[in-house]
Amino acid sequence: MGAIGVLTGYSGEIRKKCDGCDASVLIRSTANSKAEKDAPPNLSLEGFEVIDEIKTELEKKCAGKVSCADTLALAARDAVSFQFRKPMWEVLTGRRDGKVSRASEALANLPSPFSNFSTLLRSFKSKGLTVHDLVVLSGAHTIGDSHCNLFSNRLYNFTGKGDQDPSLDPTYAAFLKTKCRSLSDTTTKVDMDPGSAKKFDASYFVNLKHKKGLFQSDAALLTDRTSNKIVGELQKSSDFFRAFAQSMKRMGAIEVLTGKSGEIRKKCGAGDLRKNFYRNSCPSAEAIVKKITQRLVARNPGLPADLLRLHFHDCFVRGCDASVLIRSTANSKAEKDAPPNLSLEGFEVIDEIKTELEKRCAGTISCADTLALAARDAVSFQFQKPMWEVLTGRRDGKVSLASEALANLPSPFSNFLTLLRNFQKKGLTVHDLVVLSGAHTIGDGHCNLFSNRLYNFTGKGDQDPSLDSTYAAFLKTKCRSLSDTTTKVDMDPGSANNFDASYFVNLKHKKGLFQSDAALLTDRTSNKIVGELQKSTEFFKEFAQSMKRMGAIGVLTGYSGEIRKKCD
Ligand code: HEM
Repeated sequence: MGAIGVLTGYSGEIRKKCDGCDASVLIRSTANSKAEKDAPPNLSLEGFEVIDEIKTELEKKCAGKVSCADTLALAARDAVSFQFRKPMWEVLTGRRDGKVSRASEALANLPSPFSNFSTLLRSFKSKGLTVHDLVVLSGAHTIGDSHCNLFSNRLYNFTGKGDQDPSLDPTYAAFLKTKCRSLSDTTTKVDMDPGSAKKFDASYFVNLKHKKGLFQSDAALLTDRTSNKIVGELQKSSDFFRAFAQSMKRMGAIEVLTGKSGEIRKKCGAGDLRKNFYRNSCPSAEAIVKKITQRLVARNPGLPADLLRLHFHDCFVRGCDASVLIRSTANSKAEKDAPPNLSLEGFEVIDEIKTELEKRCAGTISCADTLALAARDAVSFQFQKPMWEVLTGRRDGKVSLASEALANLPSPFSNFLTLLRNFQKKGLTVHDLVVLSGAHTIGDGHCNLFSNRLYNFTGKGDQDPSLDSTYAAFLKTKCRSLSDTTTKVDMDPGSANNFDASYFVNLKHKKGLFQSDAALLTDRTSNKIVGELQKSTEFFKEFAQSMKRMGAIGVLTGYSGEIRKKCD
């Protein structure tokens, strides 16, 4: 969608979303709580960054005064009014922002496109709205579009017998079939008001009467006598506008927080990572990253481990903002020159991908997203599995300080509490700590980062008793002395070339390479989690979720940060 499309899409959104108009739909999920915006019905919402941009400006002019809820209510009206050159509806103000946003509530409260009439009515009534409001507000479908999978059951399999919905006009159904080729099409979008989707007018109701409502929830408005009668009364645009203005005012007042309730958020939290952020600005972006990454991994099998670690070290210092890629300058030593980062590899891969991205879509794709995508694509390609989903929309930071890398990156010599504190500081949990340590199922480590465990554990020339003695003897054949700083050893003995759960199996057998690995057995909860991750299916499922959380640490989105032209 273009800018205007985004705005009008947003007006459709506000119609459905005023479950208490408190801007809770803008709040981001945290490590412990999935927010409304991440509930299935909200995944296709767009326009968040518009609210961010307006709010940033409002904060500059009148800090802490204007709520996100009012910003959204006004912007939705202004977008529609501007595009269609009409005053539309009045927006009263004075809403305050809620603090709570739960995905489960979005699921429970948002009407579904598959709902029948009585379900829709109950949903609207529970918000203090009437059957009249339900019909009138459905008229918002006079603009915007929808994904095929939300109605294609009406075309291909209405009652489970490969049949069509008889309440759908057959000519319109035939047309829709040319757009939505199968039940599994989840990407194509279709106008909701055929023939008039670019106009805000009453034609939605005219189409509806002609059995051309797109969703079951649209068609449902004809199945009740009262509601059907109201559809009939709204066929003239002047009547529709008058009624719509009144119903929007009522919708905009649902469960609002005013006076001393709620708060005025400084940031609406809208700018968030999204699936395929570059869908419109550079549709081939993700394919380009994947193609180059795959070519390079085919040549260098060590790359998946390199890139995965690079992504981790980026995220733990100032968030996933590509600050780990920045070069030192005469005046400032950058993250990559801090001791824990001296063994990082894979930088040139990101540079190569970024060069190609700049050729195709200059100034569009961040280095931070490039790294996040390449790390996933490298691992997925090598191990022939989809692995984890990477949301995009990260922007690049401008600051990179060696001192911050030292302060924030966990050390292989850390004990459990230090590791936990380290992860918790990034909004991650003990569960994430254990699961993500499973990345050590691939790659290798330098002798000097664990040889104290072999030769001088407590300063008395002794061995770490928490290390399996056969494994220790083997490691000694590789790492000949405390001063060996060049030899590297597989971190997941016997299975370092497979991305699987054997890291956890080895760990339980006291064959974790670093003290930081062994430390995961020293805490009761963490030890229990290690036990639960011994099966690869379980590990993959958890790893995908924790990687998503790690990839969201401290991200810069919306208008923060920048898009660097060169990553280093
Ligand atoms: C829990 C705290 C962690 C510590 C203390 C730690 C420490 C280390 C150390 C010391 C190395 C070896 C570096 C070298 O000798 O060159 C290493 C390698 C590696 N780490 Fe971690 N790590 C941790 C968590 C993670 C996480 C969360 C990830 C990714 C999600 C990760 C991914 C990797 C990978 C893939 C390698 C192998 C790199 C290669 O072979 O190129 N690590 N880690």
